[in-house]
Amino acid sequence: MSCKVTIIGAGSVGSTIAYTLSGEDMASEIVLIDINKEKVEGEVMDIEQGTCFRDPVAIVAGEYEDAKDSDIVIITSGIARKPGQTRIELTQTNVNILKQITPEIVKAAPKALYIIVSNPVDVMTYVFTKISGIPENQIIGSGTVLDSARLRCGLSEHFDVAQRNIHAYVFGEHGDTSFIPWSAARIAGVNVDDFVAMMPHLGKDAKELDKDAMLTYVQKSGGKIIANKGATFYAVTRGVCRLCSILMSASESVTTVSSMMHGEYGIEDVCLSTLALVGPNGIQGKIPMALTEEEVGKLKASADALKAVIAQIEL
Ligand code: LAC
Repeated sequence: MSCKVTIIGAGSVGSTIAYTLSGEDMASEIVLIDINKEKVEGEVMDIEQGTCFRDPVAIVAGEYEDAKDSDIVIITSGIARKPGQTRIELTQTNVNILKQITPEIVKAAPKALYIIVSNPVDVMTYVFTKISGIPENQIIGSGTVLDSARLRCGLSEHFDVAQRNIHAYVFGEHGDTSFIPWSAARIAGVNVDDFVAMMPHLGKDAKELDKDAMLTYVQKSGGKIIANKGATFYAVTRGVCRLCSILMSASESVTTVSSMMHGEYGIEDVCLSTLALVGPNGIQGKIPMALTEEEVGKLKASADALKAVIAQIEL
């Protein structure tokens, strides 16, 4: 696989992404960029010295010009949440960092596919879309790809069903206004409510699902992990590497990512997560998945919450 990936930000997320990509047959060249030159040099040394055990991969601590002709650029720069902080509290600081990064990276890699990870990711995806001049299809916010993974993990544990048999998504903000469109959630092809009724026939206890508790589990997992270990980086890395895999593949996949809305569900001029078709050309389009009136209302409420944050930003 010949694919050049540049990662901006050598913090816990950016470095874990670089390490994970270096161990998978996805990238042939990885450029890691950070304002902290000692940190990025140390991360690259630590990753590079284990690469003899796999196919050759070039990994460098670089400057923006080293990102030239990258196929994928992953932006993770910014301060991370501290215990008890919300992602929204990071907004202006991280927007200011993004405003410094954007002209530099866009000049080096105007044709790259951009994965925005820095939080608050929906706001950061919006700002990057507005200031970069990069075509929108090339801009993918990691959005709720992680939340949907957390949902599948939670449902798998609740129903004792393999995650690969669970197709359920989280829509809206990667944050406290996200919601689960239960009308579209399927376990082994069966709607969640019908699956509960089926369980006795499968020799399993019919465990009613507390949907509110499951949404809280999804929304609060990030904060709990940060309180327990100081930061989150493994699951978000898996989600971002999945997006890289989709962007590098010849065919498209369906996943929840954050992107600019243009009237879908009556929402526009904000970035949030809905179901999108993603492939080698970035976001190919959005899947017009049917939502109930109540679910559309929740998506609009999430959009309004994000617009209120955007209105406060100094662009
Ligand atoms: C989390 C960070 C990636 O939810 O926002 O773990």
